[in-house]
Amino acid sequence: MVGSANALAGMREWWPKLQEGADPLDCALGVVQRVEADPNDRSVGLGGLPNEDGVVQLDAACMHGPTHNSGAVACIENILHPSAVARLVMERTDHCLIVGRGAYEFARSHGHPHTELLTEEARRIWMRWKESMSDRDDRLSPPPPAPPPTKGEKHGSLRKEEGPDFTYGTIHCSALSAAGEVSCTTTTSGLSYKIPGRVGDSPIVGAGLYCDMEAGSAGSTGRGEAAILSNGAFACVELMRQGASPLDAGMEVLKRITRQAERAAKWQPGLMGEDGLPAFGVNFYVLGLDGTWAGVTLKGKNKFAVSDVDGGPRHEPLIPLHG
Ligand code: GLY
Repeated sequence: MVGSANALAGMREWWPKLQEGADPLDCALGVVQRVEADPNDRSVGLGGLPNEDGVVQLDAACMHGPTHNSGAVACIENILHPSAVARLVMERTDHCLIVGRGAYEFARSHGHPHTELLTEEARRIWMRWKESMSDRDDRLSPPPPAPPPTKGEKHGSLRKEEGPDFTYGTIHCSALSAAGEVSCTTTTSGLSYKIPGRVGDSPIVGAGLYCDMEAGSAGSTGRGEAAILSNGAFACVELMRQGASPLDAGMEVLKRITRQAERAAKWQPGLMGEDGLPAFGVNFYVLGLDGTWAGVTLKGKNKFAVSDVDGGPRHEPLIPLHG
């Protein structure tokens, strides 16, 4: 099994079941659904940061290697387990992707309860973001606890520069059974404070996840637009089909993303940092059919989760493309 760092707790529960012969999709979904229900993860499901209107909109997909089938939902609201609904789309419809109100109604028709996903903590973070957006609107940040504002000072204006949390976070898990069957899933609340209706890579087969019984499995977290524009997960799997190792496949896709960002920066300069590197983050988790794996990142020091027969569930460092 391989996945984003937040998959570790779920891997501890589901890795033994995978080893005992459980279906890889059951195991991958079991891993991510733990986090969908965790109010403390700001990037997935319950407690995820909302869109700019304060509404939590979720994207999720799953792909089952043995039947080469997939299902996905996008912009779904008020449903705790979008990955389970993605599986219903795969197994109980002839479709691959259902979005918005239709996805919600579809989930409700299959018995998923209506759930408020905006936690009090996420609401407070969102309000902080709204209040920090501009000095030219009428929203003011809360007053600093101490010292009290001096006379004439705009209440709370000191705190605007502190800024809110931003996240592209997400959870991905790819699983390979002892019988050589692969499956994967990706689920997210997407980019924090996104434009309502924005869909990232997570529910897009080929971008945020892909698996193929002839080549392996891969998934992405981070800036979804980069994974979409590179067809990142598909590219990782396709490179493995052509003989690349999981590490080489992931690195090649990150190189493509870097070149694509350099081109795109001609009209969107903020995509590249002053250090000449992409200003955003993208990670790929790549799993070969022989059980080899890799976790790669554009830059920085981060971790990912892996479980294999050599070491069981653990964190490993993501390998950065740009030192
Ligand atoms: N990778 C998650 C997103 O961009 O929505």
